[in-house]
Amino acid sequence: MRVLTFFNHAGGAMKTSLTRDVGYALATFGARVLLIDLDPQANLTDWLGAGPAEVEQTAFETAASDAPLPAPVEVHGLHLIPASVDLAMVEGRMMGVVGAQLHLRNHLRDLRERYDVVLVDSPPSLGQLAVLGALAADQLVVPVPVRDKGLRGLTGLTEALRTYRKVRPDLSVGLYVPTLYNRQRRHDQETLEVLQRTLSPLATPVPQREAVWLDSNTAGEPVLKYAPSSPVAADVLRVTREVVEAVRLPLAVPGE
Ligand SMILES: Nc1ncnc2c1ncn2[C@@H]1O[C@H](COP(=O)(O)OP(=O)(O)O)[C@@H](O)[C@H]1O
Ligand SMILES: [Mg+2]
Repeated sequence: MRVLTFFNHAGGAMKTSLTRDVGYALATFGARVLLIDLDPQANLTDWLGAGPAEVEQTAFETAASDAPLPAPVEVHGLHLIPASVDLAMVEGRMMGVVGAQLHLRNHLRDLRERYDVVLVDSPPSLGQLAVLGALAADQLVVPVPVRDKGLRGLTGLTEALRTYRKVRPDLSVGLYVPTLYNRQRRHDQETLEVLQRTLSPLATPVPQREAVWLDSNTAGEPVLKYAPSSPVAADVLRVTREVVEAVRLPLAVPGE
């Protein structure tokens, strides 16, 4: 079993979108996939059409009290540990507990025979929940918007990683993914060049294409299900293949 956490403290980087859609694509490739929503905003849960969730269904007690993870809900052939807004309260509870930031990592070990891949969606912060998710990972997948904002956030990311490695010296970034790329914009081309010089390994950029992403959220369906022949579906398949390759998931990927 491999645990990948989609991590970037900036909001709007595509963490949630990639967690949902890479997760669904991996399932269509035959992997047994568990998704974990660690964002109290619960976008992943909503965009899979699985909300609203009760707090007992979330990772709350695992984080707060070192309890085993709850049974997942099933949605679109995936297993999901959903989020609810109450998850925001867990950060206060974790603060006073030594080792709390490793609770998720500890309990994911119990599931290692049950899943091939666990994908964790982080909140847009560097708070306790973000640390919980990052420290649970075998590797991080870091989406970086191809914007000034994305570049500015990199310093904070590097600093956070350095801190996490004090606890998990083996924690690495399996893949950086440039996102929301508009190749018609000269500024985006220049920013992408900076990312190509500074980040490794770096995926092919995921283009900015609004409609299908937004509409699939409203429909509560992964893109490969909602619009399987759209250009966005091709983007999803490409980035999924790149993730498989970068972190060496032992999966037979069709169409290669
Ligand atoms: N390639 C894309 N092009 C345009 N909009 C996108 C794309 N990918 C995601 N979005 C939209 O951008 C918003 C932010 O993405 P999201 O996955 O929520 O980022 P994060 O989880 O990092 O905050 C969402 O509304 C999402 O539907
Ligand atoms: Mg999100």
